[in-house]
Amino acid sequence: MPVTVVVGAQWGDEGKAKVIDLLAAEHSHVVRYQGGHNAGHTVVVGTERYALQLIPSGVLYPHIVPVIGNGVVVDLPTLFREIDTLEGRGISCAKLKVSSQAHLIFPWHQSLDALYEAKRGDEKIGTTLKGIGPAYSDKARRIGLRAGDVLDSAAFAEAVRANCVYHNREIEGLGGESLDAEAVVAQFAELGARLAPYVADTVEMLHEALDRDDALLLEGAQATFLDLDHGTYPFVTSSNPTAGGACVGTGIGPRYLTRIVGITKAYATRVGSGPFATELTDELGDKLVDIGREFGTVTGRRRRCGWLDLVMLRKAVRINSLTELALTKLDVLDTFDEVKVCTEYDADGNPVYAVLPGWRTDISAVNDIDALPAAARDFVALVEREVGIPVKIVGTGAERESYVIWS
Ligand code: IMP
Repeated sequence: MPVTVVVGAQWGDEGKAKVIDLLAAEHSHVVRYQGGHNAGHTVVVGTERYALQLIPSGVLYPHIVPVIGNGVVVDLPTLFREIDTLEGRGISCAKLKVSSQAHLIFPWHQSLDALYEAKRGDEKIGTTLKGIGPAYSDKARRIGLRAGDVLDSAAFAEAVRANCVYHNREIEGLGGESLDAEAVVAQFAELGARLAPYVADTVEMLHEALDRDDALLLEGAQATFLDLDHGTYPFVTSSNPTAGGACVGTGIGPRYLTRIVGITKAYATRVGSGPFATELTDELGDKLVDIGREFGTVTGRRRRCGWLDLVMLRKAVRINSLTELALTKLDVLDTFDEVKVCTEYDADGNPVYAVLPGWRTDISAVNDIDALPAAARDFVALVEREVGIPVKIVGTGAERESYVIWS
């Protein structure tokens, strides 16, 4: 009963979707376990580009059952927009299942996200304003509504109305504009009816799959250092992207996890506020933004860029019990004369760098480890040695085929 977990090892946007796409071929289900439509996943297949926020990346394979697990917060308008777009392009979402225990995002969550951010002024987190934090707060306060609630349409309408009235008081208290409860009830009556056929007891369903010895792939969104507990609090998201969150967010116990893949770029990026020891605020940072096309898929925001930080990566190995790494976007460093990697921090907490010669070769068409320039191989070998777990996949470009199996 092999279960693979894919976890971001940095601050998100590591290229998880491409690795999941690659691994999906040998799995039967791809299960999202936390986060919501704050995530943005892009997979490039031939000339087609698929941008997904909620639906698991594996949906592009006809054999995969895509599952939105209980740990996810679901924005229904986004979900149906994605389904319509995918189906319009010939990709069936008929097998999609949404956990009855997954919480729903409502318009008041989005209003409150913006109001809380505005209230923080200079201290703002830089959230995606998708209502993720407020939806998880309601889950923790035990007042949230869940996907399974749509199955009783009369009770659901009543609960939506009561929830809207309740949240309007807070919105008004923060100086915001209250929502029209009846309009929200009408909108969600329609959305709820459309959701009903997708709702399932996914915990039971996944255990039945495990009993059949099916191979499951658990897909994390965001990343280790955006984790509510282990990230750079308060500049974090409101869920647990770390591997423990994969168990909680799917109902699959830790004993089942056999392979835990950490995804890291060959450099580092972060979107939103918070500490970033190896950040480059000079023209080298701009160069990484340009070549790596480092703009958020969800918000379009420019990502902050810097050198790879192995101190953080070693911590990610411990927190997640990573068994291997996938190193993505190595090709972005192709034109650099020298490449730096932070191997430790000095007594003042400043990064100490190993400086490696650049390879100054276009590696985007390279599929074979022996065809990689020696300097690029030395870079990967240094990461492997310093972090202490094997690198298995090296990403060499945006296309589905652009990767090297390292070991
Ligand atoms: P929230 O998840 O919208 O509450 O945002 C909290 C923090 O997580 C902000 O710094 C966001 O920029 C960051 N964040 C959320 N989702 C992603 C993601 O998918 N990639 C990168 N950063 C993200």
